[in-house]
Amino acid sequence: MKFQLLIIAFLFISCKNDNNLVEVQIPEPEVIDQKTSNFGDPNDVKTETGPFELVQLNYKFEDFVPNLDGRTIETHYSKHLLGHANKLNKIVTENKWSKKTKIEDILLNLDINNLELRKSAGGYYNHNLFFENLAPKSNLKPSDTLTMAIDKNFGSFEAFKQTFIATASNVNGSGWTWLILNKKGDLEIITTVNNDNPLMKDALIKGTPLFNIDTWEHAYYLQYQNRKLEYLKKVFELLNWDLISKKFESL
Ligand SMILES: [Fe+2]
Repeated sequence: MKFQLLIIAFLFISCKNDNNLVEVQIPEPEVIDQKTSNFGDPNDVKTETGPFELVQLNYKFEDFVPNLDGRTIETHYSKHLLGHANKLNKIVTENKWSKKTKIEDILLNLDINNLELRKSAGGYYNHNLFFENLAPKSNLKPSDTLTMAIDKNFGSFEAFKQTFIATASNVNGSGWTWLILNKKGDLEIITTVNNDNPLMKDALIKGTPLFNIDTWEHAYYLQYQNRKLEYLKKVFELLNWDLISKKFESL
């Protein structure tokens, strides 16, 4: 429903002792239909020179409405992820690293005090995983094998979901929440700050990521403003459990 908004502002102009009231009509703000507006083709978003490309999306930016609007996901993908990828490519190119270097190897070996690389490599990996594991109109469920592991580690899928969302909502400041397979072979929910991740050698808890959810404000603020918990519930509904299950079963 399109709301018509008319704002009348009154400009009070004082001229000596004579007060003149002037009525000014402010133009209506542009209303964007998030479902039908064209936010462009994700495949047209290209990185600058370097070996690292953006994860290819099999959906359109506007396919997540109403859970995530087109502007939110387009900005996130083509501004934030692209920025990390370009910075990472710049570092790799300037340092003449092999173009065959894998992102996982960079994360595993990086010097934690190299803040520029830590930020761009982490941001690149984390965002690619995030976008890769979203599926529009998901309604998907974990496979039987993954369901058994979730039940074993968390009691039930519903208990896992509630714990994951509660953990993510409690992330203070910028960070990520993850489901990982830890070194003991158990599923575990963890959080990381900034763009750190559980592959980094200095991570407090290490493991293989299955999926993550971005809890930086830029991930939701355009649509949800301060309603972080609402965002978390809605984005959880978009998880591509087919893909996540396949990854779990391949480990
Ligand atoms: Fe992000």
